This record gives sequence, C-alpha cells and structure tokens, in this order.
Amino acid sequence: MKSLISVRELSREDVEGIIERASRFKGGERTSLKGNVALLFLEPSTRTRISFERACRELGLDTYTVLGESSSLSKGESFTDTLKTFEALGFGAVVFRVPFVLFPYDNLTDSLNLSLVNAGDSTHQHPTQGLIDLLTLKEAFGSLEGLKVLYVGDILHSRVFRSGAPLLKMFGAEVSVCGPRTLIPRDINVFEVAEVFDSVDEGIDWADAVVWLRLQKERQRQNFVPSERSYFEQFGLTRERYKRLRGTFMHPGPVNREIDIDGSLLYSDKSLIQEQVRNGLFIRMAVLEWCLKE
Ligand code: CP
Repeated sequence: MKSLISVRELSREDVEGIIERASRFKGGERTSLKGNVALLFLEPSTRTRISFERACRELGLDTYTVLGESSSLSKGESFTDTLKTFEALGFGAVVFRVPFVLFPYDNLTDSLNLSLVNAGDSTHQHPTQGLIDLLTLKEAFGSLEGLKVLYVGDILHSRVFRSGAPLLKMFGAEVSVCGPRTLIPRDINVFEVAEVFDSVDEGIDWADAVVWLRLQKERQRQNFVPSERSYFEQFGLTRERYKRLRGTFMHPGPVNREIDIDGSLLYSDKSLIQEQVRNGLFIRMAVLEWCLKE
C-alpha cells in the first residue's frame, strides 16, 4: 500500500512503471482489484473527479463520493479526523482534492492504514496531471530527452507546473516559463528552468511544446494582471501565435476561453487537450493500481 501526494517522492523507476501500465490500459489490458475508494473533493472538478471514478470502476473498485459542503469538514472536523473516519470504515484509498497545501505530510501518511492519492492540493501538487502531461508529450514526441517545453501564464498558482516540471526534467526535457512577472514565483530557480521569458512570442519560438495554464482567478486576492483582455493579448494563445507554433500545445483544463486561449483553437490540429483528458483515465488507473497492489 502506497500513497501519492507529490511527484517529488517518485523515482524514475516508479514513473516508468506507471507510464508503462497506463499505456497497457490504453491498449485495452485490464486487471481486477478489490476494495473501496473514497473520492473526497472539497474543490470543484470535472475531469479529475470523473476520470478517477471511471478508473476505479474499470479496476473493479467501489467508489463513494464526498463533496465539500456535504462533508463534516464544513462543521469544523479536521482533515486528519476525516481520513481516520474513512480508515475506520475500511476504505483502501482516499482520493482527495483540497483547498489547502498538504505539506509536510509524512506524519499523515505514516499514521494511516490506507492509501492517499492527491488529486490537487491548492497550489502545491497535482501529481496525476503531471503524469498525464508526461505521457501525452511522450506519445506525441517519442522521447522527452532534449524536448523544449514552455509553461505559459499563471505559474505562481499552478500545481500543474509544480508537478509537471520535475517529471519532465527527470526524463531530460528542458523546461521554461513565461508570464507576467507578478505570476512568476519568486523561487522559480528551485525548478531549474532554462529560461524565464517575458515575451510569449520569444518563448513560442524556443519551444517544441507549450502548456498554457489557466489564469486562476479564484486564487488571486489582488490584481495580478491589468485586465483579462490585456493578459490575453500579451500571453494568450491567439490565432497569430497559433501560426507561429512549430509544435503542439496543451492545457490541463478547464480553459478560460479568450483569456488563456482563443476558443476556436481548443480542438485544432496542434492541440493535445483531448488526448490529455483521454490519458487521464489510464494514468489514474495505473496510479490506483500502483498504490493498492501489494
Ligand atoms: N485539470 C484538472 O484538474 O481539471 P478539473 O479541475 O476539471 O479536475
């Protein structure tokens, strides 16, 4: 029984194993597991929640969903006590999305007799999204060695960047970022990025693949950008920039149309967005199997 809270805990061997199993599941291979999985979602989600639920069903696992306002967390119960409740009821795993950063977490994982799977903890980590993006780029480009990947937009609040960048670097990709300086984290050097671009056009010329991120308006308690319109003009994927892209682009979703990306480009030839969503099912099956198999 294992937990997955952060990609920082994963070895290259772990990641290769998960990607290999996800690819096999995508090719139609199936396996059967037994047990109950709780889906504890305290923040909104469409694709992560529904793909975890489908992944459980494909693996023969029963699912039970608890949402924010309907949980006893809304009455003041702690996250730890909520997890202890799932443990006492015999759950094998809890997949959680929470509006707070879960760090440090060793005490929590060590004290529970169940697997914890992070489906997004505030701005910290979204490990399955990082694995999805790794698999999607691997499928598109064959090898990640030397691949130039640019993240654009709200890097400051992005758990997708904090999960994806270390995984891509683990496999030899070069990672750069671009966005308003107000949305670039002060500790960006921790991620050993190749470049911090102020101009998205220069970044696009550098990159083989670009990951546009969502402007996370719900996490912004001050005005990080002058206006959504000026943000789109300076950093968004416009039709002119689309022509400039030599490779592909991704977005973890949900997309702010006409802020992150011109809506007419979402499902265009250079877009890998639908492939990212499709791969979500198989990565989540592989992660659940990795966590629950003895
Ligand atoms: N990418 C992602 O986490 O999407 P949802 O918020 O819809 O789950």
